Amino acid sequence: SDNGLQHRSDPIEMKFDILAKSGLARHGLLHLAHGAVNTPVFMPVGTQGTMKGILPEQLKEMGCEILLCNTYHLGHRPGPELVKQAGGIHKMMNWDRAILTDSGGFQMVSLSKLMTVDENGVNFQSPHTGEMMALPPEKSIEIQECLGADIIMQLDHVIHVLTTGDIVKEAMERSIRWLDRCVDAHGRKDQALFPIIQGGLDLDQRGFCVREMATRAKVGIAIGGLSGGEDKNSFWRVVAECCKRLNEIAPGLPRYVMGVGFQVDLVICSLLGADMFDCVHPTRVGRFGIAMVKKGGYLKLENKRFKTDFTPIEEGCECQTCKNYSRAYINMVMSKETVGCHLVSIHNLHHQLNLMRNLRKAIDEDKVEDFLRQFLKDYYCNEE
Ligand code: GUN
Ligand code: ZN
Repeated sequence: SDNGLQHRSDPIEMKFDILAKSGLARHGLLHLAHGAVNTPVFMPVGTQGTMKGILPEQLKEMGCEILLCNTYHLGHRPGPELVKQAGGIHKMMNWDRAILTDSGGFQMVSLSKLMTVDENGVNFQSPHTGEMMALPPEKSIEIQECLGADIIMQLDHVIHVLTTGDIVKEAMERSIRWLDRCVDAHGRKDQALFPIIQGGLDLDQRGFCVREMATRAKVGIAIGGLSGGEDKNSFWRVVAECCKRLNEIAPGLPRYVMGVGFQVDLVICSLLGADMFDCVHPTRVGRFGIAMVKKGGYLKLENKRFKTDFTPIEEGCECQTCKNYSRAYINMVMSKETVGCHLVSIHNLHHQLNLMRNLRKAIDEDKVEDFLRQFLKDYYCNEE
């Protein structure tokens, strides 16, 4: 039960225990106000307080231990005050396990056409009223305190990953100043505030930023500004560099790579030493009838070859979709009914959570190299 947890006077100690290591990968247990989270972890993303057709009890059944919610949406509608009145985001959503909220700035970059940034904060056009609104770091923290998530994120200055020149450094340095303002504004003792490392694809700037952010981090730290169309080589290199430097100065902080959710990236980044991930990918492709599978990566279920295929999406999959429905059924309902999208999304989320479970097991058994070999062999096979 989450009764009393929202403002308990003796909050549980938020800490990260590393249970096992294999190569650079770690199996950790992150203790938060609403329970412990096994890492490496994939966090499904809910917007507007829901998961687009998936209920919290279904996520629980899949073994999901932490969700990500977007402050951007909840900050406007219903509004932080109303969520607070409802007893916080956990009660509002009927989810008593851990939640992470993002600070809002990144969503504005991706959703608002009229977004500007100055030293005071992010300025954006409200999607509901159309008026210009300011989001300073203090306001982002105030909103996130109203929502009451277990992990909250600093407001950072996010720029497109392929940006070059002085602005990369300026945005990175501004993010450090904004972190200090977030720390000053943050009062709740039952929430962990994560800094976000910026610095584009420049390894020296990333290195500088890692040091600055790590000295200010208490429970965990994030790597931001990635997964925006850069090549894998540059992306993985930044993750590798940040993890390497963190191993030297703050190995006990869990590392959250923001906005990452392709299967390959989850595996590679975990093996480089990253611990947390989030992405809308499984539910987004699910809505287009694309199922995530071991063999070959993806299946487009609208394809007419599935019309008479009475097998499940994935043989042996333990999800509610695969236990009860065939590819043929999903193919039939996909074009007309939202239930088709939900069935595929359920499978996809289960698939991602299961991938991480198997990865943690491989870390426990110190067999990550075998795991990687088998994963790549399956993923790049062209059979199914
Ligand atoms: N989501 C994906 N990338 C980022 C980032 O760099 N900053 C924030 N705040 N959220 C993100
Ligand atoms: Zn399934």
